[in-house]
Amino acid sequence: QRTAVERGRALHKRAAELYFQCLRDDGRARTAREYLSRRGVSDSVAVDFALGYAPPGWEFLATRLQQEGYLPEELERFGLIVPRQGGEGHYDRFRNRIIFPIFDAQGRPVAFGGRVLDDEVPKYLNSPETPLYKKGQHLYGLNKAGPAIREKGVAVLVEGYMDVIASHQHGIRQAVASLGTAMTPEQGRLLLRYAPQVLICYDSDRAGVEAAVKAGEILTGLGARIHVLTLPEGKDPDEYLQRHGADSFWLAAEQAPPFFTFCFSRIAAGQDLSTAAGKVTVVRELASLLLMIPSAVEQEANIQWLARELRISEAAVMEEIRGHARNAR
Ligand code: GTP
Ligand code: MN
Ligand code: MN
Ligand code: MN
Ligand code: MN
Repeated sequence: QRTAVERGRALHKRAAELYFQCLRDDGRARTAREYLSRRGVSDSVAVDFALGYAPPGWEFLATRLQQEGYLPEELERFGLIVPRQGGEGHYDRFRNRIIFPIFDAQGRPVAFGGRVLDDEVPKYLNSPETPLYKKGQHLYGLNKAGPAIREKGVAVLVEGYMDVIASHQHGIRQAVASLGTAMTPEQGRLLLRYAPQVLICYDSDRAGVEAAVKAGEILTGLGARIHVLTLPEGKDPDEYLQRHGADSFWLAAEQAPPFFTFCFSRIAAGQDLSTAAGKVTVVRELASLLLMIPSAVEQEANIQWLARELRISEAAVMEEIRGHARNAR
């Protein structure tokens, strides 16, 4: 007798296979195959990430998995089918979407993301939280990226499914995604088990930059060494790599500032640093970030850098920060 969670795992494995096969063999998947090829996704990376397709029908998965002995209650509990409003029966959650299986670090599918083939909304649909899948505890691509992250000593953190896939296709095998939701401390801890250093490369639109700051703060608190790569022209890594290639990406990455410097630049941009008022504002804005750094040595190095940048004494910076810590308490 298998436990509910074991049945859930088997269920996801089977669902992933059915979606995968559908993308490869089903006549209805032609537009999906064309879509992926138009976006430059190679066949080998599509296989690597087990991309699939959910056809337009209402009961593709529901029918097949029930034929194989799974119960509607189970399929519903794991988010694959949804009960019909005020009626009998269920329908598939994912319909007419490219399927991105989300794997745990051991390479077992635990959830799915699905993308529309056009501009419909919502663009992406994800599995809900289930006994197998807690949002914010998994990193997309980690099952593939883990060895490369360990080898290179640095992870590349991106926003989305397509960013991970394009990165891997272009040889950037240490890429993982937090999947839209700002990165969580659990995701941060998971990532730092593989390497102490992270290159954040979120979309360079406003939302992406704000999410990068949040991710940077979480990773700072966990003691990571962080750099922030902002790609030009509002691009995301997928678009950038498809257009400019990996060499150009790495050239830009060499210029990526440390997270602390990145935050300094953002704050300093709105201030007149020749005035005391400007310097005070910058130090106060950076105080909470400095206080998040767990290593005293690392913290002091940043304070020294900041003091030099503002042409003030380290003692003055320290005093402002202590004041901030008192106020925060
Ligand atoms: P493409 O348009 O396919 O290139 O996607 P993208 O990854 O560039 O999209 P975007 O930058 O808008 O979003 C980044 C990530 O956030 C996506 O990969 C998804 O994981 C997530 N996301 C985006 N839109 C939605 C949505 O409508 N619903 C949900 N649940 N997640 C979304
Ligand atoms: Mn975005
Ligand atoms: Mn994109
Ligand atoms: Mn994007
Ligand atoms: Mn702050």
